[in-house]
Amino acid sequence: MNARTPTASSAVDTSIGNLQIRRVAGTLGGEVQNIQLTPDLPEQTIADLTRALVKYKVLFFRGQGHLDDASHQAFGARLGKTVAHPTVPAPSGTKIFELDASKGGGRADSWHTDVTFLDAFPKYSVLRGVVIPPYGGDTVWADTTAAYRNLPPQLKALADSLWALHSNDYDYGAERTQVDSSRLDHQTKVFTSAIYETEHPIVHVHPVSGERGLLLGHFVRRILGVTGNESARIFELLQNRVTRLENTVRWSWQQDDVAIWDNRSTQHFAINDYGDQPRIVRRVTVHGDPAVSIDGQHSRTIRRPEASSQETLDRLIATTA
Ligand SMILES: [Fe+2]
Repeated sequence: MNARTPTASSAVDTSIGNLQIRRVAGTLGGEVQNIQLTPDLPEQTIADLTRALVKYKVLFFRGQGHLDDASHQAFGARLGKTVAHPTVPAPSGTKIFELDASKGGGRADSWHTDVTFLDAFPKYSVLRGVVIPPYGGDTVWADTTAAYRNLPPQLKALADSLWALHSNDYDYGAERTQVDSSRLDHQTKVFTSAIYETEHPIVHVHPVSGERGLLLGHFVRRILGVTGNESARIFELLQNRVTRLENTVRWSWQQDDVAIWDNRSTQHFAINDYGDQPRIVRRVTVHGDPAVSIDGQHSRTIRRPEASSQETLDRLIATTA
């Protein structure tokens, strides 16, 4: 028998309620088998899924073709308060964000944690594969807690005291080899419409597991208290620790898959290798709390538009992936 066969008992975790979870990679990622995600799942199952999310950080579910936009939205709401998006043309009048590769902002091809330009960034994202190309377009997640755990003590000591400014006004083209001008124009338009800036501790404590993780990703504009050059070098040093291959799991999407991730302990990257093939995924985002440093300080909002700009914020969340 192939050692990777899912039925191999050593690969299936049955320790969380009635869930059967096939471990997908060594550090994070589990495929939950034999479950249909529906809005009316028992409370105990929702609690088990939440526990599994903390343990595995990203969960995958094949064959969720029964979900439509409304039930996707309603299931997401079982995990917490979903973020409203009144100005985004949402399918079927729901709060769902659509990431369509053919449109600006529809390819999340750089490493990030979702929406960290806010102090209270989302805790979960629930992503559904609606149109999946026959090849390409995998998504990769990285475990930011393993990255911290595996730092040598000297680098932990460095990272522990650092804070960084996150903004939606980041360098969109910095890490991309395939930047088309229309997407860049779109991003620029979005960025100039409203700028958000938040200071987060680089090392934060997960509110459930208590694990320490590195809070970085592409919304980091600079590290506080050092020069621009030093900031770039320290960022690269620590960010490279997050994205080491042994900290990652890669998922090859099939139509009707769902992925749910704990946004407080992961970064992700959608590989832009599928050319002009259509790819549409839809996301429900669950509201989270500000990060907390190891000495108990909370993230600080530095700049945000007037309260009347909530609609702008919602649009930004929808278009910066
Ligand atoms: Fe994202």
